[in-house]
Amino acid sequence: MKYERLFRHDASMPNVPNIKSILGLLEPYDPGSFPEDIAVRYGIPKEAVVNLASNESPYPPPKSLIRKVAKELERVNRYPNPSYRRLKTAISEYVGLPPERVAVGNGSSDLIDLSCKITLSPLEKVVLPIPTYALYMLSSMVWEASITYVDTEDSNFTVKAERMMPHLKDARLVFIGSPSNPTGMSVDKEELGEMLKSTDATFLVDEAYFEFSGMTMAELLENHDNLIIIRSMSKYFCLAGLRVGYALSNPTIIQSLEKVRLPFNINNLAGTAAIQALKNIDYFRKLGQKIISERILLKKELETTGLKLFPSDANFLMAKLPEGYDADEFTQELASQGIIIRSLKNILGLSGQYVRVTVGTRQENRRLTGACKTILSEHVRHP
Ligand SMILES: Cc1ncc(COP(=O)(O)O)c(C=O)c1O
Repeated sequence: MKYERLFRHDASMPNVPNIKSILGLLEPYDPGSFPEDIAVRYGIPKEAVVNLASNESPYPPPKSLIRKVAKELERVNRYPNPSYRRLKTAISEYVGLPPERVAVGNGSSDLIDLSCKITLSPLEKVVLPIPTYALYMLSSMVWEASITYVDTEDSNFTVKAERMMPHLKDARLVFIGSPSNPTGMSVDKEELGEMLKSTDATFLVDEAYFEFSGMTMAELLENHDNLIIIRSMSKYFCLAGLRVGYALSNPTIIQSLEKVRLPFNINNLAGTAAIQALKNIDYFRKLGQKIISERILLKKELETTGLKLFPSDANFLMAKLPEGYDADEFTQELASQGIIIRSLKNILGLSGQYVRVTVGTRQENRRLTGACKTILSEHVRHP
């Protein structure tokens, strides 16, 4: 039952010669609902729909960045320079590591896929603490890897070295989100150091949301050659629609990623936007602070509605529904009111009914809290 989403056999997919049979078992990545779909489904104007499902920033990037990107449109007849030297230099200055330790990707999703490409062959072992981001499983399974899941629900969703270590010896690749999606929990640096030391397995530590936590594992790169850190420009830097991410690792792993990525994987508009974003860091720091303050407030407000909230280091919150409530139904009820959140029903590693909400603007968060209050109080009256 729990495996339903990823492993539903697609009976409509006939056995076509030469197509990997694993693809008959996999579901495509589920991106959740989009405002235009909800607007049509419930007859709501698109502008009235609030999207709190994809962990995007509710704010646009600065006007100066948008102008530079618009200017870049004038040269779209040209390919990007595939060395991405300017972008890598900007990232290198931001992270304080030399450019040889930086690879760039079409969103951090690209780097998840590329990391599997450079490490995995069929039947090799991937270790995943769960619940976790579905793309780790999908990308690993395309390589026909064998996945070992390590539960974290009974350790308050923290990834513990003690729990992980028995599975690491013969592992090839280990994915750890920090902060993790959907839990919002960061890994402890010492625990990670202990795990890295104990094995030759490569660790992909996904820091897509690290700026909201103020915590990074990057200093472990110095002493551990089996570590890849990936980051995203989609969240803190408000560029989800343009697709830029980067990886930090040792020069050999970086060169390997360079060998397998497609030659022009970041388009010129995205590259320009990312460079401009890093030049405007103060703008994003202010927004980041605002989102963190809103997260604290939203957590408190949602706690008054009957939901159980979990601590979060990211720009989203995971919540458990009261007994007897169904995450899909709850999510649908909110969608009918023009509020999109993510149901975590059937997500591996979650035994109850959970949902995930992105921190939006004050006004969006107020709408969410108000709607949750109404739905849950009605439920209490008519269980
Ligand atoms: C943990 C995590 N990693 C990676 C991604 C992919 O982000 P992007 O490809 O936009 O950089 C996401 C997106 O939601 C995520 O939650």
